[in-house]
Amino acid sequence: MCGLKIVMATALLYVVLILGGISGSYGQLSPTFYDETCPNVTNIIQDIVADVLTNSDPRIGASLIRLHFHDCFVNGCDGSLLLDNDPANGIVTEKDAAPNNNSARGFEVVDRIKAALEQACPATVSCSDLLTIASERSVFLSGGPGWTNLLGRRDGRIANNSGAQRLPAPFETLDILKDKFLELKLDTIDLVALSGAHTFGRGRCITFSDRLFDFNSTGLPDPTIDANYLQFLQDLCPQGGNASVITNIDLTTPDQFDNKYYSNLQANKGLFQSDQELFSTPGADDVIEFVNKFSANQTAFFESFVSSMIKMGNLSLITGSDGEIRLDCKRVNDVLVGSGDSGVYVSSI
Ligand code: HEM
Ligand SMILES: *[C@@H]1O[C@H](CO)[C@@H](O)[C@H](O)[C@H]1NC(C)=O
Ligand SMILES: *[C@@H]1O[C@H](CO)[C@@H](O)[C@H](O)[C@H]1NC(C)=O
Ligand SMILES: *[C@@H]1O[C@H](CO)[C@@H](O)[C@H](O)[C@H]1NC(C)=O
Ligand SMILES: *[C@@H]1O[C@H](CO)[C@@H](O)[C@H](O)[C@H]1NC(C)=O
Ligand SMILES: *[C@@H]1O[C@H](CO)[C@@H](O)[C@H](O)[C@H]1NC(C)=O
Ligand SMILES: *[C@@H]1O[C@H](CO)[C@@H](O)[C@H](O)[C@H]1NC(C)=O
Ligand SMILES: *[C@@H]1O[C@H](CO)[C@@H](O)[C@H](O)[C@H]1NC(C)=O
Repeated sequence: MCGLKIVMATALLYVVLILGGISGSYGQLSPTFYDETCPNVTNIIQDIVADVLTNSDPRIGASLIRLHFHDCFVNGCDGSLLLDNDPANGIVTEKDAAPNNNSARGFEVVDRIKAALEQACPATVSCSDLLTIASERSVFLSGGPGWTNLLGRRDGRIANNSGAQRLPAPFETLDILKDKFLELKLDTIDLVALSGAHTFGRGRCITFSDRLFDFNSTGLPDPTIDANYLQFLQDLCPQGGNASVITNIDLTTPDQFDNKYYSNLQANKGLFQSDQELFSTPGADDVIEFVNKFSANQTAFFESFVSSMIKMGNLSLITGSDGEIRLDCKRVNDVLVGSGDSGVYVSSI
């Protein structure tokens, strides 16, 4: 019975893929995508994010936008990061790849939002669009810009654990970070603008403690850290101490979405090596120029941030009739055998 189910499921999957190919429905994203099918989608998401931000977790906005980033950088914005281990469907989760393990957070809030969306508009809003809208609303609710979300992404049916291991790391040099962004057609200004998301949220000692005592095998701290800030970080993260202790990434306005991240870099108070490199790498005039510009002019930062977020949200999308609208963001849908010729997927739970 199980075998038959898999055969039929596979057959139906092919039908869906073929139909998708024939109709050429690799649609583009649209600002009005849910106007008829889920007109209240943005309010529903905003209300939950606002409730959590205000009542239980001032960090949640930062955590949600990071989920969108880590989703989009691995096989495009397809909700792959949200999938749990699922051997039956060949899913090796991305959640325990090093950049995400004990780090990526907010999954319960994603589930809460998804449940509310399923209540209001069943089987309509993808998990990848959920992350897109939640990110934009998180920025807005934290004092940053709001913008028109481009929607219509569909969820994928695979995860890419090895891809997730290659996410940009805080220990990487500027050249490597530039390359990793360029691979996705994100340029220098995108790198500097998107790094501005480090204007809120937290980082663990383990992500920057290599800078504090013996940086790059020099026997000395990273010379680009301000002396007082260094002392503060050394006290917080002593050698042999608890690597999971967290601190604000933006020490000036920790939960506010503003341009203080860039003035922190100018003051040698960037938390991660990957942050401070944007200002302190000798000869890196191409990035320093943008740090200075965004520090001087928050409007310019917000404009660039929005345009880079839209680019990041447009990475190798699944649209049209490819992929699926996942009903539970943690697992791919099962194929509903005998659902007629529409190729509707449903979850088994
Ligand atoms: C340039 C490459 C990047 C590197 C190397 C990097 C690295 C990191 C690291 C190491 C952390 C702390 C994780 C932890 O301690 O658990 C972090 C947190 C964060 N990152 Fe990035 N990041 C990068 C780009 C981005 C981008 C493009 C965004 C979003 C547009 C982003 C948004 C965030 C946010 C909001 C947090 C805080 C999350 C929270 O508090 O839960 N980062 N990042
Ligand atoms: C839209 O969603 C909000 C928040 O959940 C709710 O308060 C409001 O009643 C909804 N409006 C409609 C027309 O469904
Ligand atoms: C993820 O973190 C947990 C808890 O620290 C650890 O036990 C596990 O081995 C880690 N997973 C991977 C794949 O590294
Ligand atoms: C996983 O991601 C890597 C890029 O990091 C890519 O080269 C590879 O093709 C992806 N694998 C799958 C199965 O999509
Ligand atoms: C670390 O040291 C190597 C070799 O000494 C050098 O090429 C590299 O630029 C250094 N990295 C940083 C971030 O200082
Ligand atoms: C390490 O710090 C984290 C974060 O504050 C805390 O949850 C954890 O219990 C600490 N672990 C130990 C062994 O003290
Ligand atoms: C700040 O940037 C905005 C947007 O690019 C621009 O219109 C404005 O003229 C800039 N302000 C200053 C003082 O340069
Ligand atoms: C999104 O990507 C598609 C195809 O890759 C491209 O045609 C479109 O212009 C992009 N849209 C935005 C807003 O970047």
